[in-house]
Amino acid sequence: MKIKDKLKQSVGWAALQYIKSNQIIGVGTGSTVKYFIEALNSIKEKIDGVVSSSDHSSDQLKKLGIPIYNLNNLNELAIYIDSADEIDMHMQMIKGGGGALTKEKIIAKTAKKFICIVDSSKQVDILGRGPIPIEVIPMARSLVAKELIRLGGLPEFRKNVITENGNNILDIHNMKIIDAPLLETKINNIPGVVSVGIFAQRKADIVLIGTEEGIKIIK
Ligand code: 5RP
Repeated sequence: MKIKDKLKQSVGWAALQYIKSNQIIGVGTGSTVKYFIEALNSIKEKIDGVVSSSDHSSDQLKKLGIPIYNLNNLNELAIYIDSADEIDMHMQMIKGGGGALTKEKIIAKTAKKFICIVDSSKQVDILGRGPIPIEVIPMARSLVAKELIRLGGLPEFRKNVITENGNNILDIHNMKIIDAPLLETKINNIPGVVSVGIFAQRKADIVLIGTEEGIKIIK
């Protein structure tokens, strides 16, 4: 196993320490979360079930026999565990590399506690090292792209990708992120934007970082 995968695996397992008996757990998407789901399988008798952020995670959860709940049927969600493409020292994140950003944002907003699990390569001084994913309604793709150029970004259409909600993804390159919550609002306000992969208004509460020296915890 590559070092990076070992670090992802170690934070996936470390997240178990935050799970209490009889809880329903929000589960994210991606290669780090894949390890978290493996870990969750070892305590599946202890939890009531999960809410899943993607078909991909749901497939893995179903194979393990972990019950999946509809978020609309829950009064509250205690905890959400997911990874990120980038995370800064304020626990603000860029997410959506896997295209599941809208469901991830809904679950993150619902959950009382968001625990972000990352390997150390995801840490950045300033968000925007890589592209910012944006989910857009297909009809609005051109309008949104023009507005994003006006905001200083370089939008790229993610070809051959239709989200689980039937929409397109634009990846915005070269965007200077000085005030992440403000930029999140500005992009959210463009008609046709479903959600933006800046998670600055609902950021993480606890971050577990897998490093070669062990797990670092930031609260
Ligand atoms: C998916 C996400 C993921 O959390 C993000 O892309 C990180 O993925 P990985 O764990 O594979 O590095 O936001 O939409």
